[in-house]
Amino acid sequence: MSTNESNFHFYQADSAEVLPDVTPAGSAKTNPTGSNTKQPDLWRSPQLQRPTNSAALPEDLEAIRLHWERRGRKYGLSPSASWVDETMLHHEGVILSRYLKEGDRVLDAGCANGYTTIQLARAKAIRITGVDYAPSMIDYANVNLGRAGRLTGSASFRVGNFLKLDFPDNYFDKVITKRCLINLGNADHQKTALLEAWRVLKPGGLFLISEVTEQTAANLNRLRRRLGLETMVPLWHNCYLDEPDFFSFAHNYFDIKQVRRFSSTYYVLTWALYPFFVRNGQRNYHNLVHRIGAHLPQVGDWGLQKLFVLQKPLG
Ligand SMILES: C[S@@+](CC[C@H](N)C(=O)[O-])C[C@H]1O[C@@H](n2cnc3c(N)ncnc32)[C@H](O)[C@@H]1O
Repeated sequence: MSTNESNFHFYQADSAEVLPDVTPAGSAKTNPTGSNTKQPDLWRSPQLQRPTNSAALPEDLEAIRLHWERRGRKYGLSPSASWVDETMLHHEGVILSRYLKEGDRVLDAGCANGYTTIQLARAKAIRITGVDYAPSMIDYANVNLGRAGRLTGSASFRVGNFLKLDFPDNYFDKVITKRCLINLGNADHQKTALLEAWRVLKPGGLFLISEVTEQTAANLNRLRRRLGLETMVPLWHNCYLDEPDFFSFAHNYFDIKQVRRFSSTYYVLTWALYPFFVRNGQRNYHNLVHRIGAHLPQVGDWGLQKLFVLQKPLG
């Protein structure tokens, strides 16, 4: 899929995108794009107001939820339902899988249509549950799971709200969240989600956060401006983490074990150097620059996606 480079948003807005050919996640083991497969038409009679079956979604988040509900229908089984950068989406899953071990009970909070959830269950003997507040995402996640073939571990999906999780205290060994916190509208909701992750984690459990911060977005924009490229702005539904504020709050509950800049080189190549040399080109998230860039050693702090590894203390 190609998206014009002149769309200056961090993450491409779906309104500007062409609906890609759909791919069941199960066929995407080595190639995130996979082959074209007909998807079931789950949404012939869409009802946008289907409830989340989860209590207490703050009113100010309903517009964002509707955005994801529509996007879930639009993209169906495709990994692009959550993010059009399927190359980095896949690479991120590979990085995350290294933090999981056999027997872990794992929560994927804001799992979209389950691409990463299934990728992780395929890679490791874990029991993973994906939760998303958009019913369309969960419906397609279940179809993706049905088509995934044999998994090393097991996966299940349910509709739910990260701000009020329907799980007991001290239940999970690991909680993962990727680009879900930035869809929570403001810092207060982001902190509420962090407290929910803390509540459902066992003592000693890990909270794995792969998110965008204001600070890295500013770093990347500074680099782009030096190259004469336009400043990129967040999409309307994104509120990036304010790193000092969010992590000083997090520090009251978690030990911050690691900050991993796994996408810095990738972003320098794909969002600074590539657009500098190939002006007005078409962006193709599967081209060689993207595919090679994801695997190079890291330099600097320019990568929008950064992994924060937090541990709930034992005592
Ligand atoms: C950018 S997508 C990322 C999906 C997935 N984590 C990934 O990386 O592929 C954000 C997802 O979070 C979900 N989401 C946002 N706020 C949520 C909430 N309060 N509770 C549950 N899911 C939420 C959206 O429906 C959407 O599917």
